[in-house]
Amino acid sequence: MKFSSFLHFAAFGVKTILFRGKKPILGTVIITDKCNLKCKHCSVNNITAIMHPYEKVKGEMEQLYQMGVRILFFCGGETFLWRDGDKTLRDLVIEAKRMGFLIVNTVTNGTFPLDLPEADLILLSVDGNREKHNLIRGDTYDKIMENVKNATSDNICFYMAINQLNKETVRDVCIAARDTKNVRAVSFNFHTPYPDTRELALTKEDKAACCEVIKQMMKEGAPVFNLKSAFPYLIENKFPTPCHQCVVIEDGKVSVCGRCIDVPGLCEECGYFFVAEYTLLFRGNLKVVFEMLFTYLKYV
Ligand SMILES: C[S@@+](CC[C@H](N)C(=O)[O-])C[C@H]1O[C@@H](n2cnc3c(N)ncnc32)[C@H](O)[C@@H]1O
Ligand code: SF4
Ligand code: SF4
Repeated sequence: MKFSSFLHFAAFGVKTILFRGKKPILGTVIITDKCNLKCKHCSVNNITAIMHPYEKVKGEMEQLYQMGVRILFFCGGETFLWRDGDKTLRDLVIEAKRMGFLIVNTVTNGTFPLDLPEADLILLSVDGNREKHNLIRGDTYDKIMENVKNATSDNICFYMAINQLNKETVRDVCIAARDTKNVRAVSFNFHTPYPDTRELALTKEDKAACCEVIKQMMKEGAPVFNLKSAFPYLIENKFPTPCHQCVVIEDGKVSVCGRCIDVPGLCEECGYFFVAEYTLLFRGNLKVVFEMLFTYLKYV
C-alpha cells in the first residue's frame, strides 16, 4: 500500500472513531448477477442475469467516490463474465484506479483466465479441498487451480465461505494458500444463512472449532487475511451490525453494509468477517486496530 493511501485511511479511521462517524470508506459495485455456476450456498446468482452497461457502472463508481469510498470491490454474479462491447472487467478496474480509488479488488469464482494485474487483490472463491469445493461449486477445482497457476500476477487471495458441507477442510485451504504460486493469502467468512440456505448454517461450536484451526494455521505460518482479535465476536455473533462504513450499489440502489440488508433478521446471524472487523475497528477496539494495521500492511 502507498504511504499516501495509508495516511488517508489512518485519518479516516481516527475521525470515524473520535466522532462516531457514519461515512463509508468501502464500497462494492455489483456489475452483474449473471453467473456460470450455481453454488449450493449462494442465493444471489442469476436473479436478473443483467450485465449492467459500462456507463452505468462508471456512474455508480463515481457516486461511491463522491460519498467518500476509497476501497472499491467489484462483485457479482461472476465478475469475469462481465462485458459491454469490447470492455471487460479489466477496463473497470483501470477506470476505478484512474478515478482515484486507493484499493481496487474483485471477487471471482476463478473459472476464467486470471489476467488482472491492475487489481490490488483478486478474491478467488475456494470452498474447501477438491472434494468439498466440487460438491458445493460443481466440478471446477482443477480448472481454478490451473487458472491460478497461469495467472499473470500474484495478487490472488483465496476466499472461503465456511458452511456445514466444508467446515472440516479449513486447514486444507490454508495449506493451499500457503503453497500455491500467485496466492498471497486466504480470507474466510462463515455462511450467512439466507432463508433458502439455512441448513448450511454453522453452530457456535462449529465456528469456535473453525477459529481454533485458523489460529493454529496462522501460528504455523499460513497467510490468513483476517483478524483473530475479531474471532470471539464472530463465534458469538456479538459484533455490531450493520457496518456503516460499507456500502453496496446494485442497479442504482445503494444499501448500507450488504445487499442482504433487506433480509429480515439476517444481520443477527451475519457471517461476514469484514463486518465484524470493520465495525469493531471503527468502534475503536484497540486489539482490532493494531491487528488491522499489521495485516493490511502485510497483504495489500
Ligand atoms: C456471491 S459471490 C460473487 C463472486 C463470485 N461469483 C464468487 O463466487 O466468488 C461472492 C462471495 O460470496 C460468497 N457467498 C455466497 N453466499 C454466501 C453466504 N450465504 N454466506 C457467506 N458467503 C457467501 C461466495 O462463496 C463468494 O466467495
Ligand atoms: S460463483 Fe459466486 S455468484 Fe456464482 S453461484 Fe457461486 S457464489 Fe454465487
Ligand atoms: S450485517 Fe447484515 S447487511 Fe451487513 S453483510 Fe451481514 S447480513 Fe448483510
